[in-house]
Amino acid sequence: MSIHNGNTNENGYLVIDPTNERYRYQKIKEPLKFILQCVYLSLVFFPLLFLSAIKTLIARERSLKGQTVLVTGGAHGLGKELCFKFASLGCSIACVDINDKGSRETVIAIKERYPGVEAHSYHCDVRSKHEIRILHEHVKRDFQHLDILVHNAGDVTSAYLIDFEDKFLDNMIDLNLKSHFLIYREFLPEMIKRNKGHIVAIASLASVYSEMNFSIYTATKHGVLGR
Ligand SMILES: NC(=O)c1ccc[n+]([C@@H]2O[C@H](COP(=O)([O-])OP(=O)(O)OC[C@H]3O[C@@H](n4cnc5c(N)ncnc54)[C@H](O)[C@@H]3O)[C@@H](O)[C@H]2O)c1
Repeated sequence: MSIHNGNTNENGYLVIDPTNERYRYQKIKEPLKFILQCVYLSLVFFPLLFLSAIKTLIARERSLKGQTVLVTGGAHGLGKELCFKFASLGCSIACVDINDKGSRETVIAIKERYPGVEAHSYHCDVRSKHEIRILHEHVKRDFQHLDILVHNAGDVTSAYLIDFEDKFLDNMIDLNLKSHFLIYREFLPEMIKRNKGHIVAIASLASVYSEMNFSIYTATKHGVLGR
């Protein structure tokens, strides 16, 4: 069998010739890709980190005491820690989740750790416009106004693009992206009316940098970051 310097042999099969330029490129492709990814990360991530460090350094410290903060996904993970952090700063807490048990535990822990801090738990599926509407009514009943809305609830699951089901895709888009529009549309008008309020949208490093099996997650978080 004669080996051509080209791409195929006489049977039509692809032949890899180690002396061929293309083969040599294949061998360095992966390390090269890794180096390029590191360069990309340094160019995107570190400047962002640097900028936020500068902003933090020059920012005037303001007391959040007495502010009412609503945190979605407050039953677990980052949301739970955010509830504790805001409570430690003297904020009243509206802890929102579909995990009622977890939400109640967050509220009980807040009351134990920070006596005097007002905290309530609310059941709300943030994918539902109707439930968000009811949530708003209940928050107004308990706190009158909302000063800070932290929309943190999200799904961090990864999946191989070819394998994932429609249900998974719909949930990711509805929870990680669409819910942001729904909840801001509900709470923002009143903040505008009062000329007071902050909205914090939790994105991710994945907003700017994708990893294997995180295609939908990255797409949704890229949408949240919005640039
Ligand atoms: N975990 C990470 O490494 C990481 C990294 C960067 C960004 N984030 C982002 O931070 C946020 C929180 O992540 P986490 O790791 O703490 O997640 P987590 O899974 O620990 O907590 C998410 C919470 O959201 C709640 N939740 C899920 N679906 C909901 C729904 N439909 N309505 C209301 N609540 C719902 C869950 O019950 C849970 O309590 C997410 O937006 C995530 O994308 C996470």
